[in-house]
Amino acid sequence: MGTWAKAVLITVLTVRVSALTEDCPEKGLHLLQSKGRFILAKDDTIDGENGGDLTSDTETRTGETRKPELMKGVSYGPSMSTSPSEAHHQDYFCDAAEPIWGGRGDLEIIASLGANVVRLYGNDPTLEHQKFLDHAQSLNLEVIPGMGDRAFQQCKGIGNFSCFQGAKEAYLQNLQKGFLVGKAYHPSIKYFIVVNEPELKLPSLGEPKKFAKAIVSAIDGVLDAEEELGVEGPKPNLTVTFSFAFCNQCDNFRDRPGLGQLWTLKDALLNPEKYGVEPKRNLTAFFETRFTFSFNSGNPSDEIQSLFLDHYEVAFPSTPIFVAEYHNPGNPHLKKDLKQILRVARHSSLLLGISFFEFQNRYDQAGHLIWGMFDPQGHDEHDSARSQVVKFKETSELHVPCLSPVFDHDTTIIEELTKAYKGPGVNMSKLCLPDPDKVLVSKHGFLQMVGLKNVTAMQIFIKRVVTKLGGFVPYVVPAEIAEMFMNPFARYRDLEAMLVSHPEWARWDVFASCMVDVEATNSTVAGKLAYICGLGYVDCSKVPESCEDLWDTASWVFGTHFREVVYSQDFTPKPLQHCYLDGAAQFVRSSIWKKMPVKKDCIVPLGWTDPNKVHISQHGFHLVWSNRDPVAMKVFITRALEHTGGKLETNVPESFVTETLALEGSFKMLQDTLAAHPPWGSWETAACVPDREAKARDVGAAIGLVCSKGIFDCGQIPAECKGSVWDQAAYVFGSYYRNLKVRSSTSPLYDCAFDGRAVFAGPHLYKQFNYTPACIVSVPDH
Ligand SMILES: *[C@@H]1O[C@H](CO)[C@@H](O)[C@H](O)[C@H]1NC(C)=O
Ligand SMILES: *[C@@H]1O[C@H](CO)[C@@H](O)[C@H](O)[C@H]1NC(C)=O
Ligand SMILES: *[C@@H]1O[C@H](CO)[C@@H](O)[C@H](O)[C@H]1NC(C)=O
Ligand SMILES: *[C@@H]1O[C@H](CO)[C@@H](O)[C@H](O)[C@H]1NC(C)=O
Ligand SMILES: *[C@@H]1O[C@H](CO)[C@@H](O)[C@H](O)[C@H]1NC(C)=O
Ligand SMILES: *[C@@H]1O[C@H](CO)[C@@H](O)[C@H](O)[C@H]1NC(C)=O
Repeated sequence: MGTWAKAVLITVLTVRVSALTEDCPEKGLHLLQSKGRFILAKDDTIDGENGGDLTSDTETRTGETRKPELMKGVSYGPSMSTSPSEAHHQDYFCDAAEPIWGGRGDLEIIASLGANVVRLYGNDPTLEHQKFLDHAQSLNLEVIPGMGDRAFQQCKGIGNFSCFQGAKEAYLQNLQKGFLVGKAYHPSIKYFIVVNEPELKLPSLGEPKKFAKAIVSAIDGVLDAEEELGVEGPKPNLTVTFSFAFCNQCDNFRDRPGLGQLWTLKDALLNPEKYGVEPKRNLTAFFETRFTFSFNSGNPSDEIQSLFLDHYEVAFPSTPIFVAEYHNPGNPHLKKDLKQILRVARHSSLLLGISFFEFQNRYDQAGHLIWGMFDPQGHDEHDSARSQVVKFKETSELHVPCLSPVFDHDTTIIEELTKAYKGPGVNMSKLCLPDPDKVLVSKHGFLQMVGLKNVTAMQIFIKRVVTKLGGFVPYVVPAEIAEMFMNPFARYRDLEAMLVSHPEWARWDVFASCMVDVEATNSTVAGKLAYICGLGYVDCSKVPESCEDLWDTASWVFGTHFREVVYSQDFTPKPLQHCYLDGAAQFVRSSIWKKMPVKKDCIVPLGWTDPNKVHISQHGFHLVWSNRDPVAMKVFITRALEHTGGKLETNVPESFVTETLALEGSFKMLQDTLAAHPPWGSWETAACVPDREAKARDVGAAIGLVCSKGIFDCGQIPAECKGSVWDQAAYVFGSYYRNLKVRSSTSPLYDCAFDGRAVFAGPHLYKQFNYTPACIVSVPDH
């Protein structure tokens, strides 16, 4: 640490040391831990800076400025859901949740990772919490509980962000139901989080005055609750956990993530009246003696240092801080990153440490499947005797899921965290392995299977992916296919790409449809419905009247959307990408949806490739070609002819259709034939113009793309063509194509396609489009 920082630190230490001397258990643990760290450091050569680690420890121990033990936490919110669903219960550290944190061994697992702190989320103050705190203490774990959001409900609404009362009432109950032992705090309580990410909900980042008022008044309520019960002895610091967002409306640090919020809160604690708060307790004294900052972040360690900590240490030189959620998911060097952030903390005078985010994946919260070190997994029916049962007041009896470790390439997150935290390691015999029949059919499930290294399991999983894609596997997935996807560099994308090309070992169904997933929650479905309608591929005012029920509407909208997306884009359908919608939709084969209790006329099957809609491209050709339908191929050839500026004079000869459909048939061959102007067509002077079938929005985007290519200067668009996107596109596409043709040899099927938004049309065609004639830029074809 810099000398200036040390100097400042010593002046505040008179306050801190007195608090620490009362804290005997922590001291013993500290020595023991640093000894353990030393021994481990010797054989762990990867962590090159362990020597530095030791000296900084001795330094702090001999000087008066002993830094508290490094915080190595785990963020713990063990929801019971094993598939996407809404949560029924939020407080997992109440006595009733003992089968989870105790019976399943969660706290023991956390301790064996080498962690010393458990960070919790909002609690229900009407429930008892002492058992959890006792159990944590027996394992040398400290606990950071947090206030539940319910305490803020009233002040957020009619209460004008005055949160004193709600916070005080909730905290009084907390103190009486476990936080206090007699008149003193339970020794395992390390900090209390008065509110998590307040700036995102009270009411928003845009209103710093309001969230500051809410937080400060809530802190005042917590302090007043302590006072009212006459709490004795050392008290834990309070903290407020902010997000790592930029606060553009804050008075300071608008261009630094997290810091604007921190600055605002400090200002409000020191000058509460400025924010409309008349505190009952002395908040200045509180800030100087009992407040610790904290924040959540998904950034890697070097960014935390450079974007945040370097500036924090200057701006808040005497207030410690910790990362209450730390995890940079998808980081290829997770272990290194974890070690690095701990090293940063060790060398910082203010950063106390981190809490790893998070113990397990959360199926009750969309988007929370990339953070956890465990996946909760349901038990088999016949195996349920093995699992424990838990009962909350608002739920029926629930089986406690087992924990399956999440793989990270060829290791697991728990192994990486154990190495960083230097714990003895988790006893694997208590865990279960990811089950190929139960993991989510998603990238996450796929990576779990890769990590498992079990061919049979991968075969079972791929079979489920095929089903999701609207096919089915009559026998088994060939082992060599499964093996191909077992290497650590295999990608889910590649599996999907292989499957949509319809391999022979599976059967496929053109009446498969994108429809609602009946297991999704109604709120997810309703949310996605609004989102899809907003995208504009499907006209949601045209939902058939008979599909009025939420699920039927969703099936019609999702099905129509998917079909339109398939035609608007020049690649193979990707049901897992465009028909998943966070679990609201699924791609279902016809033999299954025909048996489902849904209205059949609200189902929109993908159907055979429509030759009137596919792009005139290599890919579009292949789709029509694989249907082996001469009528469809004739339509495609006719459209291709029109896209080269030609006009059909007679019928496309049957012999040519047959030739195109033959094994050697190709798009290149079709293109060459058309370029030679066969006698069944005629060619006139044509122009590259936007295709009337395209969406105005896509055409607009194509204009931008063309203008950026430097072939044609878009500053030259005549005023009369600026009135509509269509006229503008006609002028831009036409001029671009003409300029290109002057420079090099071109083919309209490639150079006037713009992803299906343009057509090189003869007059008979472009006249039907009704563009302003002056905006059409013709090119003689020869
Ligand atoms: C809400 O509180 C602010 C101060 O924080 C005050 O200026 C405002 O008048 C209050 N509004 C109402 C309706 O009481
Ligand atoms: C509040 O505490 C601060 C710092 O301890 C002190 O300077 C100030 O006088 C106190 N204010 C009141 C009103 O007691
Ligand atoms: C509690 O807060 C005070 C004031 O910020 C600080 O000096 C002290 O180190 C904090 N204690 C802990 C354990 O964070
Ligand atoms: C791991 O747990 C099993 C079953 O609970 C137990 O029998 C075994 O002794 C444990 N192993 C270690 C090394 O603690
Ligand atoms: C591989 O996975 C299958 C299917 O889940 C399972 O039955 C089998 O026991 C596993 N084999 C090994 C060696 O774990
Ligand atoms: C969800 O929507 C379906 C279909 O509209 C309806 O039958 C069901 O009762 C709804 N469920 C809930 C929990 O509202």
